[in-house]
Amino acid sequence: GALTDSLWCLSLHTNRTFQIDYERDQFLKDGKPFRYISGSIHYSRIPRFYWKDRLLKMKMAGLNAIQTYVPWNFHEPLPGVYRFSDDYDLEYFLQLAHEIGLLVILRPGPYICAEWDMGGLPAWLLTKKSIVLRSSDPDYLAETEKWLGVLLPKMKPYLYQNGGPIITVQVENEYGSYFTCDYNYLRFLQQLFHKHLGEEVVLFTTDGASEDYLKCGTLQGLYATVDFGTNHNITEAFQSQRKTEPKGPLVNSEFYTGWLDHWGEAHETVDTKAIISSLNDMLSQGANVNMYMFIGGTNFGFWNGANIPYAAQPTSYDYDAPLSEAGDLTEKYFALRELIGKFEKLPEGLIPPTTPKFAYGKVAMKKVNTLEESLDVLCPEGPINSTYPLTFIEVKQYFGFVLYRTTLPKNCSEPVPLSSPLNGVHDRAYVSVNGVPQGVLERNKVISINITGKAGDILDVLVENLGRINYGHDINDFKGLISNLTLGSVMLKDWSMFPLNLDAAVQNNLESHETWSNNPSSPSLPTFYVGQFSIPTGIPDLPQDTFIQFPNWNKGQVWINGFNLGRYWPARGPQVTLYVPRHILVTSSPNNITVLELEKSPCEDPRKCFVEMVDTPVLNVLPSSKKS
Ligand SMILES: *[C@@H]1O[C@H](CO)[C@@H](O)[C@H](O)[C@H]1NC(C)=O
Ligand SMILES: *[C@@H]1O[C@H](CO)[C@@H](O)[C@H](O)[C@H]1NC(C)=O
Ligand SMILES: *[C@@H]1O[C@H](CO)[C@@H](O)[C@H](O)[C@H]1NC(C)=O
Ligand SMILES: *[C@@H]1O[C@H](CO)[C@@H](O)[C@H](O)[C@H]1NC(C)=O
Ligand SMILES: *[C@@H]1O[C@H](CO)[C@@H](O)[C@H](O)[C@H]1NC(C)=O
Ligand SMILES: *[C@@H]1O[C@H](CO)[C@@H](O)[C@H](O)[C@H]1NC(C)=O
Repeated sequence: GALTDSLWCLSLHTNRTFQIDYERDQFLKDGKPFRYISGSIHYSRIPRFYWKDRLLKMKMAGLNAIQTYVPWNFHEPLPGVYRFSDDYDLEYFLQLAHEIGLLVILRPGPYICAEWDMGGLPAWLLTKKSIVLRSSDPDYLAETEKWLGVLLPKMKPYLYQNGGPIITVQVENEYGSYFTCDYNYLRFLQQLFHKHLGEEVVLFTTDGASEDYLKCGTLQGLYATVDFGTNHNITEAFQSQRKTEPKGPLVNSEFYTGWLDHWGEAHETVDTKAIISSLNDMLSQGANVNMYMFIGGTNFGFWNGANIPYAAQPTSYDYDAPLSEAGDLTEKYFALRELIGKFEKLPEGLIPPTTPKFAYGKVAMKKVNTLEESLDVLCPEGPINSTYPLTFIEVKQYFGFVLYRTTLPKNCSEPVPLSSPLNGVHDRAYVSVNGVPQGVLERNKVISINITGKAGDILDVLVENLGRINYGHDINDFKGLISNLTLGSVMLKDWSMFPLNLDAAVQNNLESHETWSNNPSSPSLPTFYVGQFSIPTGIPDLPQDTFIQFPNWNKGQVWINGFNLGRYWPARGPQVTLYVPRHILVTSSPNNITVLELEKSPCEDPRKCFVEMVDTPVLNVLPSSKKS
C-alpha cells in the first residue's frame, strides 16, 4: 500500500545493512551484533486469509524472523504463465511480515524439497525427457534463468538494505544431497542471484550436518549453514559447519520441531522436552536457529510430494509443529515461547487466540455420476489417441488424473492378469471393464490384477498422480502409464487418453450438469457425490473453521464450494480429518461439498451415505490400529 511505500522510501535514506561478521562469528544488522530466532512458515500451505494471524502468533512467540520457501511450480503452472495474486501473493506476504516486525529468510530455490510436488520444480520441465534437473543442463538453466528473472526482481525491493524485511537469501537447497554435484550450476545461480539482488545481499546454502553433504552443497561466496534435529549432537553438528566455514555465525537453518508423514505410516511427532533442551543449548552457544516448521499448514489440492521408495505425503502438513495445521497454539508453542523469553525480550501484547472450530455435523451425500459418465465435462476436448500409452507430461496434464481407455483384444471369460511388468503405473490405477470394477494397480505394491470381460469391451484405467518425488535421485518422476500394460501375454495398444480437469468441472457445478444420469452403477467405480450444508443461524461468529472426515469412505478427493481441499484416504491413514478454513464457507447460501470417491463409498446403505464435520483434527489413526 501507499503507506508502506512511503515508509520504505524514508527507510531507504537510513543506512540499513545486513552482513556477516567473520571476526566475531556473528551477523551484523545495521552494524550491530544480531542473532535470529526464526521459524518456517510456507505461505503456499496457508490461505492468504490466515497469513496475518499465523505471522502474529509467530511474532508473539518471540521470534524475530521467519523463513519461507518459494515454490516455483506454485507460481508458474505453465511455461511463461505466472500467478502472483490472492493466495499466490508472495509480495503481500512479505509486506505483512514486515509490518508485523518479522525479518525474512527467503529460500527461492529453484529446488526446495519441502515435501512439495517435485521439490517445487515445475513438472513441465520434464517435457524434455532427458533433462538433468539441478545441473548445468542448458535447458534446465534456461528455464531457471527465466523464472528467477521474474521472481528475483520482485524480491529486490524487499531486501533489508532496500528497506524491506529480507535479511538473507538461500541458494538451492541441500544441494549436497543430490547426485549431480555440479559447481558450475551453483556458480550460475550465485551470479544470477547477485545480478538481480545486488552484490551486498547475504547468500547462503543449507546442507545436512556432515562433511559428505557439505562437500557438494557449498561454494565459496555462499555462506554455508547446516540443518539438524534433536537427534544430533549439537557440538558435532556445528563442527561440520565449522569445517566449511571456520569463521562466521553458527546457523542451523532447519531445526526440526516435528517431522513429516506418509500415507500408511504412523503420524510423526517430536517430543517437546527434547526440542527445548536442544534449542536451549544452541541458543546458549549464540547460534542462529530456524525452527522447521513453526507452522506446517496444508497440502491443499494436489501439492503434496513423495519420498522414495515411493511413499506419498498426506494432505496435512501439520508436522507436529508448535502451531498446528489450523494455527492452534499448542503446549510446544508455549514451551518454546518461555524458552525464547530467557534469551530475548518477548513482545508485549496479546497472543492471538486459537481460532474457534465448529462441528457442523453430518452432511448427507448423494451420488451424481460416475467419473466415466462425466467425461464430457471433465475432458471437453476429447481424448488424445496413441498406439502406446503417453505420460501425463505428454498429454500436458500435470496433476490429478488421466483416464486411459482401450478395448480388450480378446475374451477373458476366465480371469486374465492385467499387468505392468515394468512397474510403470505412476502411481495408482482404478481399473474397470465395461463399467465393472476390477481392482487397483499401485506403484511398487500391486503390479498385476486379474480381470474378466469380452473381446471389444471397454477397459478403463484411471491413473492418479499421488504426488511427485521431492527428494533424492528420482525427482524426474513421470506420471501416468509410463510403460506398457499387458493382458496375459498380449501388449495392450490403441489407447485413448482423457486428461481430466477436475477443478474446472467442480467449479462449474458438475452436479447441475444436464447429463446427470442416476444410472445404477457399482459403488466401487470412481464416482462423484455431492452434499450441501448451511451455516446455522443464531450462533454468533459463524462460520468457523472445521475438519471434514469420511467415515466408511475409502479414498478420494474433496472440494468445498469449488476449493480443492485435498486427498482423503482413511483406508490407509494416518490422516483422518481434513482442515477446512472458514474463508471458503458462505453464510448466504448452502455450501457445496463435492467428493470423488475412487474405490468404494458407503452409499449402498443410504443411512451411511454421509460425511461429517467435526471440531477436532484426527491425524494419527492407521487402519490396522483402528479397531483396537
Ligand atoms: C557431543 O559430542 C562431543 C564431541 O564429540 C562430546 O564431547 C559430547 O560429550 C557429546 N555430547 C553428548 C550430549 O553426547
Ligand atoms: C480416438 O479413438 C477413439 C476410439 O478408437 C475414436 O472413437 C476416436 O474417433 C479417435 N479420435 C481421434 C481424434 O482420432
Ligand atoms: C469371444 O467369445 C464369444 C462368445 O462368448 C465369441 O462369439 C467370440 O468369437 C469370441 N471372440 C474372440 C476374439 O475370441
Ligand atoms: C489370477 O487368477 C489366477 C487363476 O485363477 C490365479 O492363479 C492368480 O493367483 C490370480 N492372480 C491374482 C493377482 O489375483
Ligand atoms: C510400449 O512398447 C512399444 C513397443 O515395444 C514401445 O515402442 C513403446 O515405447 C512402449 N511404450 C511405453 C510407454 O513404454
Ligand atoms: C452450490 O451449487 C449450486 C448448484 O448446485 C450453485 O447454484 C451454488 O451457487 C453453489 N454454492 C456455492 C456457495 O458455491
